[in-house]
Amino acid sequence: MQKPTNTEMAIKIIKQGIAQKDKSVVHDLVRDDYIQHNPTVPDGRKGLLGLIDRIIDGELPMPVINVKRVLAEGEYVVLHSDFDWGGRKAVFEIFRFEDGMAAEHWSGIQNHPKQTANGHSMVDGETAITDRSKTESNKALIKDFLEKVFIAGQFNKLRDFFDGDKYLQHNPMIADGVSGLERGLEEMQKKGIKIEFHKIHQIIGEGNFVLTLSEGKFDGKPTAFFDLFRVEHGKIAEHWDVLQEVPAQMPHSNGMFSLSLYRRLGGYDAIAGFVDSAFPRVAAHPELSHFFRGHATESQYRQRQLIVDRLCAVTGGPVIYIGRPLESVHRGLGITEANWNTFMKILTTAMDERKFPEAAKKEFIEIFEKQFRAATIEGELKE
Ligand code: HEM
Repeated sequence: MQKPTNTEMAIKIIKQGIAQKDKSVVHDLVRDDYIQHNPTVPDGRKGLLGLIDRIIDGELPMPVINVKRVLAEGEYVVLHSDFDWGGRKAVFEIFRFEDGMAAEHWSGIQNHPKQTANGHSMVDGETAITDRSKTESNKALIKDFLEKVFIAGQFNKLRDFFDGDKYLQHNPMIADGVSGLERGLEEMQKKGIKIEFHKIHQIIGEGNFVLTLSEGKFDGKPTAFFDLFRVEHGKIAEHWDVLQEVPAQMPHSNGMFSLSLYRRLGGYDAIAGFVDSAFPRVAAHPELSHFFRGHATESQYRQRQLIVDRLCAVTGGPVIYIGRPLESVHRGLGITEANWNTFMKILTTAMDERKFPEAAKKEFIEIFEKQFRAATIEGELKE
């Protein structure tokens, strides 16, 4: 039997597993440690089985799911669906697969109004995937669009991303065309409704389609923005979205967007293990050893523990740093930029040895460069 594709598995999980309440599908295709970001479903395979039980018990209505659009990139699958689940709803789901099973899941759901400002539904329109060779450039275009226009607020750049007024809109509040988008944004501004995009967490593309998951605020409320764009000849041609408020309380600690860096690095043991590989090498390096000479073993243990705590706290772990501010512990040591570079080389090697995932490693290094560097190098210390 041929192995099912990630897309086939994702569709089977929601259509046969959830809508048809077939728990065996969840046992076969969903990992026990499945990371759930849906803000109403508990974590793990167990959480998903619990959701099916609530449907079987009649506590939740039976969903009817019509998958309208599918895109797949590497380990990720995106489903865009029309749900009838106690009313019509537009839904985006992202699945991440690992070793042939679903390992992580994000989703956004929004009630579908009877009437929309553009006459389209939130899920109809183009579905065909073309231009597979342009996936990367289309992803870069959408990233640039969101960063410039919605994160940096450069609305004067808006028209650079469109071909004249040609733009099909599926957001139910906004009319077609770039003119429709401009009017819609203007009207919201007049009503005092602010749209704030803070961070893009995911960009998944296949050919002419690009999906983004962003974190921000809509009308002052923390919101998850799922935006799907269709690109034609390097310009944005069509757009669908789902906005969901991020609830203050969730039945898991995974958030709606991404696990903390602390969790992605592997948690406490992984961070402590990293410090225990890197720290003795820093203290023994011929260029750096003089900083640590004469410290009693007990003082070294204390310092090691404070470094572990500082790193766990800064990456979002459940740890509080109770040491002194880094500027004051490093002031007077005379640490140079060259010392810093040697130090970072040792750290990067230790990160590679511990096989931190590439994206997490990059973020971790960025924390060192952006937050710790200026609290370490003598010439960069603040007054
Ligand atoms: C070139 C790089 C670095 C060198 C040579 C260095 C050196 C030192 C030395 C010699 C001490 C002991 C000071 C004393 O007790 O008198 C110290 C303390 C400490 N350092 Fe660094 N450091 C470096 C970078 C960093 C970075 C990036 C962090 C970020 C986590 C860090 C966190 C700490 C902590 C938490 C303490 C102990 C704080 C306390 O005692 O309250 N260091 N460092």
